[in-house]
Amino acid sequence: VIGPLVAFPAIEPAPSKTLIVVDSGVPERHDERLLLAASGPDAILVRLAGGERRKSIDGWRELLEAIAAERLDRDALLVAAGGGALGDAVGFAAATWHRGIRWGTVPTTLVAMIDASIGGKTALDLGGVKNQIGAFWWPEWIAVDPAFLATLPARELRAGWGELIKTALIGDVALFEALERDPPRAEGAHRAPRSPTRDELARAIAVKRRIVAEDPREADRRRVLNLGHTLGHALEALPGNELAHGEAVSAGLVFAAELAADLGRAPRALAGRIAALLAAIGLPERWPTDRVAELLPRLAADKKNRGGRAWFALLRSPGEIELAPVDPQAVLRRLAAGRG
Ligand SMILES: NC(=O)c1ccc[n+]([C@@H]2O[C@H](COP(=O)([O-])OP(=O)(O)OC[C@H]3O[C@@H](n4cnc5c(N)ncnc54)[C@H](O)[C@@H]3O)[C@@H](O)[C@H]2O)c1
Ligand SMILES: [Zn+2]
Repeated sequence: VIGPLVAFPAIEPAPSKTLIVVDSGVPERHDERLLLAASGPDAILVRLAGGERRKSIDGWRELLEAIAAERLDRDALLVAAGGGALGDAVGFAAATWHRGIRWGTVPTTLVAMIDASIGGKTALDLGGVKNQIGAFWWPEWIAVDPAFLATLPARELRAGWGELIKTALIGDVALFEALERDPPRAEGAHRAPRSPTRDELARAIAVKRRIVAEDPREADRRRVLNLGHTLGHALEALPGNELAHGEAVSAGLVFAAELAADLGRAPRALAGRIAALLAAIGLPERWPTDRVAELLPRLAADKKNRGGRAWFALLRSPGEIELAPVDPQAVLRRLAAGRG
């Protein structure tokens, strides 16, 4: 559901109780709307810190303790209202409490709206590796209210655009070309781009929904969503680099396009087009060429790899992605050479 949050979508049988876990990074002025939307006899709202630390075993334990304190039974509904990290953790708590209770999600960041909340993946991190633990556990509903974006810090909004551009490159060429013609430029002191329009949100959501519907449990097709993420995840995990997910993915998109050109799969100019759009939004289009030795093992650790080689989603042209294992030497050369 995309639109103002006036009521949570009804589910049958009606929940015995609703526990709304709100990301404490979401300004309190949104609480009232969330409680009104709950509209059940027994809705309780708890605020807990969101962000990546929520996706730890301790963060999960704290969620289970909050659920236990409210004595949620098998007919209860858990609601995640927050960023993608809080959503991943709350979803995993829903999947594991009493062997799985129903949940709904109100994504409040751009990344959560167009990506994290769609597709039924819930997750925790372990030992410095993202999403090591998890379950496929589909929410009953996803309520996307663009009003939450108004309070999002400029940097989070920008990072979300990186993910939106990835999505357009995968499955909505017209959207990518429209953004190229008129980029949501980073403007003002905070270099904030505008928020996406409802149409842009709906189109990005439609692409992700279509791809996960074709491959709900990530047998193969769904891996195209990984475009830009093989290097992106490695950059995100690099100590001292401190990139937001969407920022890391941005640099990863340019890398994947350059790599595809190296392998003769795509025109070199495509990487330039992507980099130009990202730069207009103020997103990174380069990776640190002096940290190849640290990046390589992280690429090898990607759990999407198969058969001992690093697999990449390679962009042949907007809308056309090829999944292929790539020779480590080619990866190394491009990492060290930088962009272009
Ligand atoms: N399950 C999936 O398929 C999937 C897909 C993509 C990403 N993810 C995961 O999502 C996470 C990234 O999500 P994210 O980018 O939303 O980051 P995030 O969840 O860390 O949120 C970013 C920050 O924004 C704050 N925030 C949230 N809503 C706000 C609002 N409306 N106003 C002001 N501040 C607000 C949060 O408190 C947090 O500090 C990663 O852990 C990633 O692995 C999961
Ligand atoms: Zn992503």
